Amino acid sequence: MKSFTPYTLITGASGGIGFELAVLMASKGHNLVLTSRSEEKLANIARQLIKNHNIKAIAIPADLSLAANRERLINEIRAQNIEIEILVNNAGFGDLSAFETSSMAKNQEMIDLNITALTHLTREFLPEMRSSKSGRIMNVASIAAFMPGPLMSVYYASKAYVLSFGEALAQELRGSGVTVTTLCPGPVASGFQERADFNDPTLMKILKPATTTQLAQYGYKSMMKGKRLAIHGRMNRIMVFMLRFSPRSVVARLVMKLHQ
Ligand SMILES: NC(=O)c1ccc[n+]([C@@H]2O[C@H](COP(=O)([O-])OP(=O)(O)OC[C@H]3O[C@@H](n4cnc5c(N)ncnc54)[C@H](OP(=O)(O)O)[C@@H]3O)[C@@H](O)[C@H]2O)c1
Repeated sequence: MKSFTPYTLITGASGGIGFELAVLMASKGHNLVLTSRSEEKLANIARQLIKNHNIKAIAIPADLSLAANRERLINEIRAQNIEIEILVNNAGFGDLSAFETSSMAKNQEMIDLNITALTHLTREFLPEMRSSKSGRIMNVASIAAFMPGPLMSVYYASKAYVLSFGEALAQELRGSGVTVTTLCPGPVASGFQERADFNDPTLMKILKPATTTQLAQYGYKSMMKGKRLAIHGRMNRIMVFMLRFSPRSVVARLVMKLHQ
């Protein structure tokens, strides 16, 4: 009989929120499978975490926007008799540009990573969580999930998918022992801004971004409690509440102004 060791799979673990989650979860004694595109960075992180926290950590580099790479990641996990007890779908990116002139290749990559990879990995690892009657899934959305996002339209729409999918799945799994947490950060200082071309230092000062450590701690706590929706920061929670009473056309105008 095969013996399986339980692990947490974190996507996008080479930087930002994913990296901080890896450090935090290692410090709590979780074994980790770390994935992202940066092979060397991931290998170094895994080595450090093993050394500092006496856990098992495996780095599997993969561009998760590609189906073949996701299959390779899954096959490697299966080949090593690893059981995924916690899945953190964190990898994602945005792009600040008018849709009309945006790169379709980039839009496709964003959809493939933010939506398809998250859906694929959840579908793959959920059945074993369900049969063992325990498991945690955390999907990283954004407060962008709650509003239309002119000039970042595909990104905001992708996060609306993550929110809707997570809330629906949490309901399907009610009472099963498997929980689904949708983490919604507001602005966070990370590699995100540079990749999204969203690098205005004045605006970043006004937005008062949270740190990746704050997000990792809040996300981890919320996930372990089995919270369905975890919006980080009091002001963000108030804003999301107010959005219920605001016409979406007005919200779209305001978001467009912010992005301009
Ligand atoms: N920062 C914010 O203001 C903010 C706000 C709300 C929500 N979020 C969400 O939070 C999540 C984490 O973002 P972050 O702020 O930590 O950004 P980040 O610092 O840019 O980190 C993104 C991570 O995803 C990985 N990644 C990117 N493309 C990938 C691909 N094709 N395949 C596999 N891994 C890939 C990156 O590693 P490699 O480059 O090595 O692949 C990196 O580890 C994202 O889903 C983002 O949408 C961020």
